[in-house]
Amino acid sequence: MPEQFSYLTELEESGSGVRSSSDEVRNLGSDGTPLLARYDLDTVRSAVTPAIIAERKPTLWRYHELLPVRDPAFIRGFGEGMTPLVELPRLGASLGVPRLKVKDESALPTGSFKARGAAVGVARAAELGITRLAMPTNGNAGAAWAAYCAQYGIEATVIMPVDAPAITRSECVMAGARVALIDGLISDAGRVVGELTRSGDIFDASTLKEPYRVEGKKTMGLELIEQLGWKVPDVIVYPTGGGVGLIGIYKAILELQKLGWIGAKLPRLVSVQAAGCDPIVQAFTSGASDVTPQTDTRTVAFGINVPKPLGGRAVLEAVRATEGTAIAVSDSDILNFIEKCASSEGMMFCPEGAATLVAVAELRGSDWIDAQDEVVVLNTGAGNKYPEAVAVDLPTVARDAGTDEVLAAFQ
Ligand SMILES: Cc1ncc(COP(=O)(O)O)c(C=O)c1O
Repeated sequence: MPEQFSYLTELEESGSGVRSSSDEVRNLGSDGTPLLARYDLDTVRSAVTPAIIAERKPTLWRYHELLPVRDPAFIRGFGEGMTPLVELPRLGASLGVPRLKVKDESALPTGSFKARGAAVGVARAAELGITRLAMPTNGNAGAAWAAYCAQYGIEATVIMPVDAPAITRSECVMAGARVALIDGLISDAGRVVGELTRSGDIFDASTLKEPYRVEGKKTMGLELIEQLGWKVPDVIVYPTGGGVGLIGIYKAILELQKLGWIGAKLPRLVSVQAAGCDPIVQAFTSGASDVTPQTDTRTVAFGINVPKPLGGRAVLEAVRATEGTAIAVSDSDILNFIEKCASSEGMMFCPEGAATLVAVAELRGSDWIDAQDEVVVLNTGAGNKYPEAVAVDLPTVARDAGTDEVLAAFQ
């Protein structure tokens, strides 16, 4: 009998807990809440061990038992996964957090962690026979889904704010997606996608309106825990827009606990938002169980400019269940930390990633983070996708091929 590849069983409505078949094309549950993939973890426990996983290729498919694609023939991709977990000793020392580390997602295909959700979401869409899909995006998700859809021959329609980072707009077009730029925010783009997909001819692949993107993002959590020797750190700090990454990391932790591969300790999950768009922070601070949508939001960290996150309730649950917190940071601090990290550690974070560093500085300042804590921040994308974010003063051009001036300045 061939080895089973995925142990996906059913989809569960995150609101009501009602379970249903996972082998049909689905969007939200009948209660209007996101559907979450469930697995036969008892059988996974006897089918695979961390030692077996350690022998596999360094891609996110090494966790295939805990991913939704049933037939390996549907796995293509670009070798995504197993991004480095890098120590930040100089920056950590300057912040009073010597055990600071970054899970650096910048080297993933299309330059952001969105490749994880796209690799798994598009593979599963292909397996379910989907040939046309549409999605709203702040840029990186569109770039990733357009690339994976091109690889699988699926038609992608991407609706994005005209202000999305220029490179991401070009990436979508280059990958052959049908692209519409709208004068509005991602929530406006989401409304357009809702209309476009209403008839059912085109699949709505919006964040959390399809069940499998979060499974791809879950692999961030699986990887970082494997990289720490199947131990959780004290604190995980995540830049939160729609919230899928944080929900995925929390789901990974709970599944690993049920498998018995990690102990009872939970890392404190920190949801970081920008001061110009902070619906989750506002809800967390006021004790609300769900977010109140915001309007006219803005931030340099474009990926986390999500005024109405559908996953807000689940993010709040994850943060509270882990005794974590939610914190908003300013754009000027984000920009300062991009430079601080580049000059002290040689890593140019994306603005969303740099927001996590600001949060670490502030939470250490208030003693919420202890000097002994092992802290992992997520750099969710490549800084060089945002050349316009940091205004750098370049030296003037040296005259006469420059020899005299360069020697005078640098000898
Ligand atoms: C670089 C980057 N970081 C973080 C986010 C937020 O992701 P999530 O939906 O998982 O909160 C995005 C979303 O566009 C992004 O592009």
